[in-house]
Amino acid sequence: MARHLITSAIPYINGIKHLGNLVGSQLPADLYARYLRGRGHEVLFLCATDEHGTPAELAAAKAGKPVDEFCREMYEVQAKIAEGFRLSFDHFGRSSSLQNRHLTQHFASQLAKNGMISEVTEQQMYSVADGRFLPDRYVEGTCPNCGYDNARGDQCDNCTKQLDPADLINPRSVISGSTELEMRETRHLHLRQSQMKEKLADWIDSKKDWPILTTSIAKKWLNDGDGLADRGITRDLAWGVPVQYEGAPWSGMEGKVFYVWFDAPIEYIACSQEWVDAGKGADWERWWRTDKGAEDVTYTQFMGKDNVPFHTLSFPSTIFGSGEPWKLVDYIKSFNYLNYDGGQFSTSRGRGVFQDQALSLLPADYWRWWLLSHAPESSDAEFTWENFQVSVNKDLADVLGNLVSRVTKFCRAKFGEVVPEGGVFGPQEEKLIAELETRIRAYEGFMDAREVRKSAAELRAIWVAGNEYLQSSAPWTVFKTDPVQAAAQTRVALNLIRLYAVLSRPFIPDAAASMMASVQSGDWSWPEDVAAALNVLPAGHGFTTPEVLFRKITDEERVDWQARFAGTRD
Ligand code: 2FM
Ligand code: ZN
Repeated sequence: MARHLITSAIPYINGIKHLGNLVGSQLPADLYARYLRGRGHEVLFLCATDEHGTPAELAAAKAGKPVDEFCREMYEVQAKIAEGFRLSFDHFGRSSSLQNRHLTQHFASQLAKNGMISEVTEQQMYSVADGRFLPDRYVEGTCPNCGYDNARGDQCDNCTKQLDPADLINPRSVISGSTELEMRETRHLHLRQSQMKEKLADWIDSKKDWPILTTSIAKKWLNDGDGLADRGITRDLAWGVPVQYEGAPWSGMEGKVFYVWFDAPIEYIACSQEWVDAGKGADWERWWRTDKGAEDVTYTQFMGKDNVPFHTLSFPSTIFGSGEPWKLVDYIKSFNYLNYDGGQFSTSRGRGVFQDQALSLLPADYWRWWLLSHAPESSDAEFTWENFQVSVNKDLADVLGNLVSRVTKFCRAKFGEVVPEGGVFGPQEEKLIAELETRIRAYEGFMDAREVRKSAAELRAIWVAGNEYLQSSAPWTVFKTDPVQAAAQTRVALNLIRLYAVLSRPFIPDAAASMMASVQSGDWSWPEDVAAALNVLPAGHGFTTPEVLFRKITDEERVDWQARFAGTRD
């Protein structure tokens, strides 16, 4: 049994997210966590809301609420959605927690102690019309690197380059659109991450097994002239972790807070403290401190590609720079983007399906299956209603759902609602066992490698193998001439339902629970030996014939939904 720490990128608090956000971090992280738990490993799976910074402040202002109240409410909304999608976090924390405040300040002090912080008086963009300094994200303009004209002040969404607002060509205020911007003097703390260049390069070079998407982005910014430039980690804002705290190694920083990207990843650690303080865990240090047992933890982070520079360069600089034995990430799984029906998801234009809407249309498993089996791993992926309909109707309803209902209904009709006795395994069963043995080991291999799409494809092939077995052994025909043999076949098929519940649980946990309930078992043990797994339910064991496991999506629904989410608001 190994120990696995898993974190998902923490979603911004400022609104309900679309499906792309789900498949880019939380959902695959959940898949991996569920799989590892299923195999008997000890898992700590953490996520939180990312609550600081201007996006939160502005969203609160728009909602006419104090920012703390806004965040509290939105946290509940996001937590409920996460529950709706069955995201099995051990704790869903908040970056505005006291734990994170203290830990962020602790890291800042450590970095200062190690000469990693410089105080810089700088010119910052001030919007005369808005009467405030404009944080990076609230300045937009043309990217000096690629020429994209909606580049944000912190990063260009087109070429992923990390930027400074002053780099933008023709900058404007996102708040008011005003171009009446001027540079004013303000003092800030900078993280001297350039000091870490060699250390970061060696570390990234040592990660031979990381996805190319992760290492290519990391190396691009590492080797880009100013990809590792010292960066400001404080902002002129009210909402965030205060920079001027008791014992702070600087003065005169009142009214400033740490940059949201400085405290957000620290929340991964603080979240585990929240988990302990909430009474859910006993010890967080054995997960995070290599001097307290964390050296044998495998730590995997999940995130969208836009998050990669912060997790491969900035956050590791904080960890290295602290000079303390914190656990570093072992594997960074990053994702491309999910597009929506020929374009992008757009919050402002109401284009695409948002997480709450998705759950109001269909149960979580339908979405989980589609999203995971189409995860944007090697390239961007696209959600279309046609594809969604085909996937649900074929994979879930025809292949898996149909197997369950055929087997249980047939057995009920011919033998009653108990696992029938008699007969022995013959060549067809041997063939099925051999195929499952191969496929289940392949499935494990893909899951261990966090290969989401390949895992889904293999799972589907495992379902298909069961259908093929049923088709070729045809117990309904055999029953007429050799009911004892048909009993043995039906026994195998009923056992397949339990086996499939175990294997499918990471992808479709609710359906897996229904399948397990229908065979009246609670045995979730992983099939280390397939022949044994097909004998778990003995003759005489009762079962119930379940309701339809997955319903089909009709053409009318597809057309209706397509129109409904095409986007009109603006
Ligand atoms: O991109 C985002 O949604 C960020 N809120 C992710 C932060 S991840 C980490 F740093 F905590
Ligand atoms: Zn660009």
